[in-house]
Amino acid sequence: MKFNQTLILLLCLTFFINCKKSTEAEIKKESTISKAEKQFALLTKDAEDQNRIPRTLDAQGQMHWAHKNFDWTEGFFPGSCWYLFEATKDKKWQIAAEKFQALFEDHKYLTTNHDLGFVFNCSYGNGYRLTKNEAFKKVMITAADSLLTRFNPTVGCIKSWDVTNGWQKERGWEYPVIIDNMMNLELLFEVSKLTGNTTYSDAAKMHANTTLKNHFREDYSSYHVIDYNPENGAVRSKQTAQGFAHESAWARGQAWGLYGFTVCYRYTKDIAYLNQAEQIANFIINYKGTPKDGIPYWDYNAPNTPNEPRDVSAATITASALIELNKYSKTSYNSAIDKIMNSLASDVYTAKLGENKHFILKHSVGSIPHGNEIDVPLNYADYYYLEALTRYKSMELNKK
Ligand code: GLY
Repeated sequence: MKFNQTLILLLCLTFFINCKKSTEAEIKKESTISKAEKQFALLTKDAEDQNRIPRTLDAQGQMHWAHKNFDWTEGFFPGSCWYLFEATKDKKWQIAAEKFQALFEDHKYLTTNHDLGFVFNCSYGNGYRLTKNEAFKKVMITAADSLLTRFNPTVGCIKSWDVTNGWQKERGWEYPVIIDNMMNLELLFEVSKLTGNTTYSDAAKMHANTTLKNHFREDYSSYHVIDYNPENGAVRSKQTAQGFAHESAWARGQAWGLYGFTVCYRYTKDIAYLNQAEQIANFIINYKGTPKDGIPYWDYNAPNTPNEPRDVSAATITASALIELNKYSKTSYNSAIDKIMNSLASDVYTAKLGENKHFILKHSVGSIPHGNEIDVPLNYADYYYLEALTRYKSMELNKK
C-alpha cells in the first residue's frame, strides 16, 4: 500500500473510532438523564400529594419539606422541573414547575435576606428562559428590586444575613457577606439585560469586585463570611459559619465562588472574572486531599479524612460551573468534568430507583457546625446535577 493510501486509511479509522466514542458517550448521557427523570417523577408525586416542596431528609430519614413562609432552597425543586422540561421537552415538567413556583411567588417582596437570587432565578428565571412568559419576567424584576434593597454602595456588597435575630445575632457581625452571595448576582445581571436598567448590573459588578478583593486567600480558596463596617466599608473580620474553621476552605463555598465568577464573566466579559474563576477551578481540581473520584469532603481542610462526609452538592455545583467555564477558558476542563459526572452517575452517589425517599443523589452536607443535614440528599444537589446533565449533554467534549 502506498504512503498516501495508508494515511487516508488511518484518518478514516480515527474518524470512525471518534464517532463511535462520542455516540457511546451520548447514549450514556441520555440514559443518565432518563434514570434521573424516573426518580424525580416519584419525588414530584410525593410533592404533589402534600402540595409542598421537598428539601432534604431529617435525622430520622423522613422527608423534610421546605418552610412555607420562606426557605432559601424553595426555588430548586421547580428549577429541577424546568431542567427536566428542557432535557425531555415533556410538558408535564413545565406544568409541575409552574405549580410549585407559584407556591412561593409572594416571597418576591421579602427583603430580609439575600437568597432571593437563588430562589427566583432558579425557578422563574429558568421558566422565563425557556418559555418567555412575561408574567415570569415581572416576578424576576420584583425579586431583583427586593434584593437591591440590601445593597450598600459604601460596602460595595449586598448584605447576606440580618443580625438582629437567630444564630447570626450571636456572632457579633454588623454586615456579613458570605461567598454564597455570588450566586444571587445572576438574577441582577439577567434583570438588567431584560429591562435595560444598569442599576442591577452595576450593583452586581460592585459586589463581585468587593468579593474578589476581600474574600480570597493567596491560594484562591475563599473565606466563608466577611463582616464589613457598614459606615465605611472596612473589613471587620474574616470567618466561617458552615466550614470547619475560619481559615479553612468550606467545599460548597469554593463551588459557589467558581460558579458565581463564571456567571459574572458570562454577562460582562471582564477578564478579571474569568481569571478568578480559572484560579478557583485550579484550587478545586488540583487539591491533593480530594479522593480520586473527585467528590470533595465537606471542607477541604476537614481534619479526620478519610472519615469525613463528602459533599455531593459541592461536586454538582462545581461540575455545572466547569462545563460553562470550559466554553470561555483556554484551559480544558474536560477530564475534571468527566471524572465528577461519572462518579455522580455511579451507584455510590446516585440512588436506586425508589430509594433515598426519591431524591436523585445521596451524600450531601448542609451544615456540620450547625449539626444540620449531614450525609443526606439535598434538593440543590439534585438541581445542580440536572443543570450539569443538561449542559453536559450539549457540551462539545472534543472542542479542545
Ligand atoms: N447558604 C447556602 C448554602 O448553605 O450553601
